[in-house]
Amino acid sequence: MLNNEEILQRDYIEKLKEIVSKKKAELGRDLTCQVTTFGCQMNARDSEKILGILLAAGYVETQSDDADFVIYNTCTVRDNANQRVYGRLGALKSHKKKNPNMKIGLCGCMMQEPSVIEKIKTSYSFVDLIFGTHNIFKFAELMVRMLENDQKVYEVWEGTQEIVEDLPIERKYFFKSGINIMFGCNNFCSYCIVPYVRGRERSRKPEEIVEEIKKLVADGVVEIMLLGQNVNSYGKNLDNPISFAKLLEMVEEIEGLERIRFMTSHPKDLSDELIETMKKSKKICHHMHLPLQSGSSKILSVMNRRYDKEHYLELVKKIREAIPDIAITTDIIVGFPGETYEDVLETIDVIKKAQFDNAFTFIYSKRTGTPAAEMPNQVDEETVKKHFDMVLSTVQDMAKERTARFNGQTVDVLVEDINEQDSEYLDGRMSHNTVVHFKGSKDLIGKIVNVKLTNFHGFYYDGELV
Ligand code: SAH
Ligand code: SF4
Ligand code: F3S
Repeated sequence: MLNNEEILQRDYIEKLKEIVSKKKAELGRDLTCQVTTFGCQMNARDSEKILGILLAAGYVETQSDDADFVIYNTCTVRDNANQRVYGRLGALKSHKKKNPNMKIGLCGCMMQEPSVIEKIKTSYSFVDLIFGTHNIFKFAELMVRMLENDQKVYEVWEGTQEIVEDLPIERKYFFKSGINIMFGCNNFCSYCIVPYVRGRERSRKPEEIVEEIKKLVADGVVEIMLLGQNVNSYGKNLDNPISFAKLLEMVEEIEGLERIRFMTSHPKDLSDELIETMKKSKKICHHMHLPLQSGSSKILSVMNRRYDKEHYLELVKKIREAIPDIAITTDIIVGFPGETYEDVLETIDVIKKAQFDNAFTFIYSKRTGTPAAEMPNQVDEETVKKHFDMVLSTVQDMAKERTARFNGQTVDVLVEDINEQDSEYLDGRMSHNTVVHFKGSKDLIGKIVNVKLTNFHGFYYDGELV
């Protein structure tokens, strides 16, 4: 059943439709839109909501920068994400001069920072629409306000308790989808801005999640990714508390659904119950993304991660004992305040012991407002670079060696796309999340097929359909 807000927003979509069709008649052409996503899977899912509403209102999607409506869904987890947005915005200004109908919108995590809004007001005042992460469900309403009165609308909320989900969505892939199971984060890792821009943790009710997945499956989805900043603490704050493992068991029951993934797991909350559920499951993929951040217990403590090196390695051991072929991937930050050469050696030691299939390595980025930004012992750039190269080369050697272990095996692969370089080839993904290229026809896209892995290329396989 739709809630009141969902009914209201659907009315606004109808209004937006009228405005768009009037404008189309006036111009004698279609109105185009471009939605660009920065950041994580959660932002990608939000962008599908934005595009869903734009298409429902009659816009036509384009990749081009001279669209009638361009919106950037921004990320602020590291400063380089912010810089890319400012760079792209600068380039949009000249397009806007040429097309008087053009409107520019910004949303997402960067918009939750007051200093960003100030900067846009002074240096990028040609932006027409701004909203944040908490009022994204008001998108249709804000569009109507902007277009009806031809005015700028800048509206960012500090927080919300509302969960508004049942609105049009345009999925990027017909056969796989992300689904939000929770919003926000309560962990306050000392380097991280996410809790400030996404607010406190809120879980959706399990019945609603199951209902949405059933609809997706009826619509052709075979693989689902359950999304949250810390899925292992899912359900703890619901009126009827439930564990993440229990939710997975409910999702497993959904007929027609073939693969289940989830992101992200926080090591401090990963339970034995979850490992047991994964072991029993026929649908949960054999991949776990388990961010380490640092291998040094001293640094982990200052990061406020609430586990140490030994606990992390113990978890990895338990997971591998239960699911021997599982692929474990991770995130690592290099250059956190106070990190020494010895701390970096600890991180390298964990990489070698944990045998990651892959690791995303990030240079620490100082985020205003976080405790780490105030710490006096920031590491100088040159030292960070040296440490980063050490970690990166260890990760690369490890990933190559580890992932190669599947060579020669026949595995199930979800076919995702035609290969960009050679249209006779397809790209698919193993349960372990590794990409496989093989010859086949595009009718197979969205299907799970058996592929023999014949050749390993460092981070992907060649294979043959069997
Ligand atoms: N909720 C997830 C991570 C979300 S952010 C978790 O806790 O695992 C994705 C990754 O960005 C993090 O795992 C971390 O490695 C990195 N990251 C976050 N803040 C950062 C910062 N200030 N500088 C560099 N990397 C950062
Ligand atoms: Fe950031 Fe930590 Fe929350 Fe992940 S768990 S989003 S790193 S505060
Ligand atoms: Fe970035 Fe926001 Fe995701 S800051 S990583 S887009 S939650």
